[in-house]
Amino acid sequence: MIRIDIISVQPALLDSPLGHSIVQRAKDKGLIDIYTHNLKDYGIGPHKQVDDYVYGGGAGMVMRVEPIFACIRGLQKERDYDEVIYLCPDGQQFDQREANKLSLQKNIIMLCGHYKGIDQRIREELITSEISIGDYVLSGGELAAAVVTDAICRLVPGVISDEESALTDSFQDGLLAPPVYTRPSDFEGMKVPDLLLSGNFKKIEEWRLEQAERITRERRPDLLKD
Ligand code: ADE
Repeated sequence: MIRIDIISVQPALLDSPLGHSIVQRAKDKGLIDIYTHNLKDYGIGPHKQVDDYVYGGGAGMVMRVEPIFACIRGLQKERDYDEVIYLCPDGQQFDQREANKLSLQKNIIMLCGHYKGIDQRIREELITSEISIGDYVLSGGELAAAVVTDAICRLVPGVISDEESALTDSFQDGLLAPPVYTRPSDFEGMKVPDLLLSGNFKKIEEWRLEQAERITRERRPDLLKD
């Protein structure tokens, strides 16, 4: 069982990506627990303020320390967290290796950034790891948190069946996935390779590996370096 607490000013953004398909099935099976926390519940004053102007001047707003400290410390009083992750474009780039690592943890907090970012003191005091999902800027960390949560969930034992096995996903063995086909074997003259219909599973495995290596060499030679 893995528990993920996601802190956000727009928790509704997480409802759909984390409420369907494999992630929902994992929740239904009791293999993962996902809680979202609306940071505005911890906001300051009658307007439940969570952001403020940047000290020193400059455009945009910064998320304040008090609501985030209150929310995270409240959670940490209840249980020990293995990681407190801040989703931000300047974090470490997320990859399958990181997904594998996180899927072995028990309790994870994810903090979604908004506006110009969060007060630096939060990053120094509370955050244990900073993750980016790519070199582009999203309007907030929610979609990134959903991406990371999805990638983690499918790796939790029991979440997906042998047929869907996560072990054959792209990246899991350091290679991109080989091509796949389904019926019909002939569509308007476009044929499935004969070998895949032959029933010779040893040869099929060899073909898949060759194809995976070829595609990886063509598209992502950087993956073959390690
Ligand atoms: N928040 C905004 N952009 C992001 C990104 N690329 N990755 C993670 N969190 C983000």
